[in-house]
Order: sequence, then structure tokens, then C-alpha cells
Amino acid sequence: MKIVVLAGGTSTERDVSIVSGTGVCKALRQKGHQAILVDVFAGLESVKLEAAFEGDYDVEAAAEYIKSFNERIQELEKQRRDFFGPNVVALCKAADIVFLALHGENGENGKVQAAFDLMKIKYTGTGHTGSAMAMDKGITKALFQMYQVPTPKGVTMTVKNRRNDLSVHGMDFPVVVKTCCGGSSIGVYIVQDQEAYVKALDEAFSYEEEVVIEEYIQGKEYTVAVVDGEAYPIVLIEPVSGFYDYKNKYQAGATIETCPAPLDEEKTRKMQEYAVRGYKALALQAYGRLDFMMDEAGNMYCLEANTLPGMTPTSLIPQEAAALGMDYPTLCEHLIEVSLK
Ligand code: DAL
Ligand code: MG
Repeated sequence: MKIVVLAGGTSTERDVSIVSGTGVCKALRQKGHQAILVDVFAGLESVKLEAAFEGDYDVEAAAEYIKSFNERIQELEKQRRDFFGPNVVALCKAADIVFLALHGENGENGKVQAAFDLMKIKYTGTGHTGSAMAMDKGITKALFQMYQVPTPKGVTMTVKNRRNDLSVHGMDFPVVVKTCCGGSSIGVYIVQDQEAYVKALDEAFSYEEEVVIEEYIQGKEYTVAVVDGEAYPIVLIEPVSGFYDYKNKYQAGATIETCPAPLDEEKTRKMQEYAVRGYKALALQAYGRLDFMMDEAGNMYCLEANTLPGMTPTSLIPQEAAALGMDYPTLCEHLIEVSLK
């Protein structure tokens, strides 16, 4: 198959996306596909991206590449340049399918999916409506409540109706303040008191105009992939220190990930059932990954769904697939198969 692996983009998770895209592209080539890695923003210049990732993953070349574009993105954004770089749409139209390795805003939020639907370009993963709903943590919470997927109590607040008094929402510390549409835990703050709360609101509102405030669940973190409507084995995520924030997500050795998670049969079945229910509630398609907390009493809470979760060779879904005996290249190919259904 002719496959464009689309990565990069303009979100705060741009760097992670490039690493996901590199891994997927190489894996699909191993499977005999004609895959090319395209930086959605750089277009023609993404030839440089290919060069940076030729052979083994060259961290320094990649960092240099990413840095040079991070600066240019800001400049080009000011000039209101088209999100799709030169030749990107033509390349995507010529492909049998586009593997979306984008993460976060403008990529995971349904806009690219809607544009591709209008242009009759096939892509992997969820369509535009499900992507948009899952990207918004306020809408996600409302749908989870509607479909009986347990989720922490919480409210959304816009910058216009900001209130610095937590009690107006009938809530008490500790709480989690997070941007409504962020990813990779950027703009997520666990706060214990009023001073930290006001600061967290200031910071979260510096990213976005809407935030979610929810009760803090003390416990362990888990994640479950759902592929083609079926739950994969669960991963237990244990950061060596602190919570599963940006650093702990991407720094080697900062987090211990165990798959299958050491949960009894009953809990495993229950969490997987909630994951499938959450997948359906948000109209996800092909695949997604749902993140959970479980407190000491064994209560489970689904925090969110990721419609374009990390797909680096060591990411969570590849670990879940490995527990099923499916290697990374086979998983990448399988995600294409289920997306074409
Ligand atoms: N948002 C990151 C990429 C994830 O969910 O894996
Ligand atoms: Mg996420």
C-alpha cells in the first residue's frame, strides 16, 4: 500500500508526534509498504525529516530539526499560514491511506479528519465527531456520565466566567485543574490549596480559554487500548516520582509500566468493560486508548480517551499488543486494516 504517515503539526505534542510517526513509518516499510513520513506543517521540507530519521533514530538530528521548526511555526502561525504545508494535501490524496501520527490540537481534535472527509482522503482512527468530543475533557465527562462510565466529579470553567472560589462548585481540595483540550499532561495541575489553585487557573488559562476542575483521585493509574471495539490487556503505570506528567511520560526510566497489569480477573474485566463503554460513548472508531485511575478501595474512574494515542515503538498500545503476541509492525498494519473497515 502507499501510505503517508502524517506527523508533526502545531500542537504542544508536536515532538512526541514526530517520534510516533518515525516509528510507524519504519514499521510499515518493514511490512513491505511504500510509506513516507511527512511533517504536516513543513510539507516539501519534510524531506529533511526523513533524512533526520534515516537508519537508526538519530536523537540529535531530530532535536535539531524539531527546534528549527518550532521557531518557524510560531513565525508562520503569526502570518496565518495554511496548516497543511506545501504539497501535503497532494501527497495525501495520492496515498491509499494516511496514517495519522498527529497528537493534540489540530490533528487529534477532528479538524484534519473533517478536512480529509471533504477531500475524500482515507485516514486511520476515529472520524471528526468522535475526535472532537474526545478531545474536549468537559464533553467527555458529560458523555461518560450519560453512559455510566465512572469518572471523577468535575466542572468546566471558561476564562469569562472564572471564579477563584472552589466552593461555588461544591468541591474541596485536593483537585486537578486541567486544560479542556490538552494532551500529554501539559497544563495539568494537582492542587492542594487556594494559592496553588489560583496559580493553576492562571497557567491553564494561558494555554486555553476553558479548563476542567475535577476531584483528585488518589490511587494508581492504568490505561486500556480498545481496537476495533475490543479491549487489549491493561497497563499499570507507576511513575518513579510524582504523577504521569510530561517528563515521566517521555523520559526513559522515569515510569514503570507493567502489562498485563497485576489486577484480578474481576477488576480486569470491569476496567476493560468500562473502556469499551467509554469508546462507544465517545463514538470512537478503529482504535483509541482510555486512561483510568483506581483508588485503594478498588473504585475505577475513567479520566479521558485518546483518539490518536502515542505510537512510538515503546508507547503504551504497542506494549499492550506485545502482551497479546503482536509485534509493533504488525500492530501498525492492523490499525490500518481496522481503519479501512
Ligand atoms: N497524548 C499522548 C500522545 C498519548 O495519549 O499517548
Ligand atoms: Mg490525552
